[in-house]
Amino acid sequence: MSDSVFYQGLTLLGFLALGHLVLKHTFKLLKGFRVHILSRWWRVNLKKYGGWAVVTGATDGIGKCYAKELAKRGFNVVLISRTLEKLQKVAAEIEQQSGRKTRIIQADFTGGAEIYPKIEEGLKDLDIGILVNNVGMSKAAPTGFLSSGDLNKSITDMMNCNVLSMLHMIRILLPRMVERKKGLIINISSEAGTHPYPRITLYSATKVFMDYFSRSLNIDYQSKGVTVQSVMPLMVSTNMTLNTKPNLLVKTADDYAREALNTAGLTSRTSGCLSHTIQSFVLDLFLAECVMSSKILAWIARRTLRLLLRIRKVD
Ligand SMILES: NC(=O)c1ccc[n+]([C@@H]2O[C@H](COP(=O)([O-])OP(=O)(O)OC[C@H]3O[C@@H](n4cnc5c(N)ncnc54)[C@H](OP(=O)(O)O)[C@@H]3O)[C@@H](O)[C@H]2O)c1
Repeated sequence: MSDSVFYQGLTLLGFLALGHLVLKHTFKLLKGFRVHILSRWWRVNLKKYGGWAVVTGATDGIGKCYAKELAKRGFNVVLISRTLEKLQKVAAEIEQQSGRKTRIIQADFTGGAEIYPKIEEGLKDLDIGILVNNVGMSKAAPTGFLSSGDLNKSITDMMNCNVLSMLHMIRILLPRMVERKKGLIINISSEAGTHPYPRITLYSATKVFMDYFSRSLNIDYQSKGVTVQSVMPLMVSTNMTLNTKPNLLVKTADDYAREALNTAGLTSRTSGCLSHTIQSFVLDLFLAECVMSSKILAWIARRTLRLLLRIRKVD
């Protein structure tokens, strides 16, 4: 082969690679524009999924705001959470503000399989179109895996609350959605599920599980009319993040839930809002492209968590 043919071949390969990159990023930009900007006015009609929505962890933070937003968009809402007084208060608030019906089910999701018959009974006779698996817990402070107090209990609690709850709620509701050939399942994972996050190791691992499970399930059931969306927020100002002051990077739970719900039906995997999508893109570049050592990653995780959560010492 002559040199010139070789160099022409290389040039062609270069152009093809460049074309592929340009097309890929143009498509991403256009999709991002549709999902995060146009969706503010041009929304998917979620009512096509049914009359009721179910939200777990619905008495505070992101879950409460999803429940309120769904009611605003015409859904009756089942609220499932741990504290009865808070459930009654949020249900009354929603009914008063939106005129929609609510139903409350008290359950502690740190429990095992024994808590689900009561939930199943509470959901039996409803036309449920949307399930939001929102409930989740993290450690009180970001520390090493072994520094969690009663490790035995904290492992069980977090696995049950973050992972088992999603699986059982889907076990209960997916067959009914498949039968009706329509349904939307929204699983609230986290940016912490996109890369290994030292200091919040178990939490991060539960969120990876949620994300991968959602993505596979979506592929399996989309053809049966059921869409599964993995939502991966960064920082939202809630009890979990010690109500960190909202700013350009940190969303209020109200804004986050409204923007995230706008993306439902448009994308199966999202950071949920424009600000978090941009932050996730930058983090991705930084973490993936810089091939950082785990020591640097652990240092950055500690500094970020200290800064954001105003914690003096992270061991
Ligand atoms: N906030 C963030 O920055 C952020 C970022 C990424 C992902 N997420 C994810 O988003 C989801 C919601 O987080 P959030 O910040 O909104 O949390 P939050 O403000 O702490 O609210 C948690 C909600 O879940 C309920 N809950 C907690 N533990 C429960 C249990 N064992 N059984 C039943 N209900 C329980 C709480 O009920 P009570 O009121 O009775 O306690 C409350 O309604 C979680 O899955 C979290 O991992 C949050």
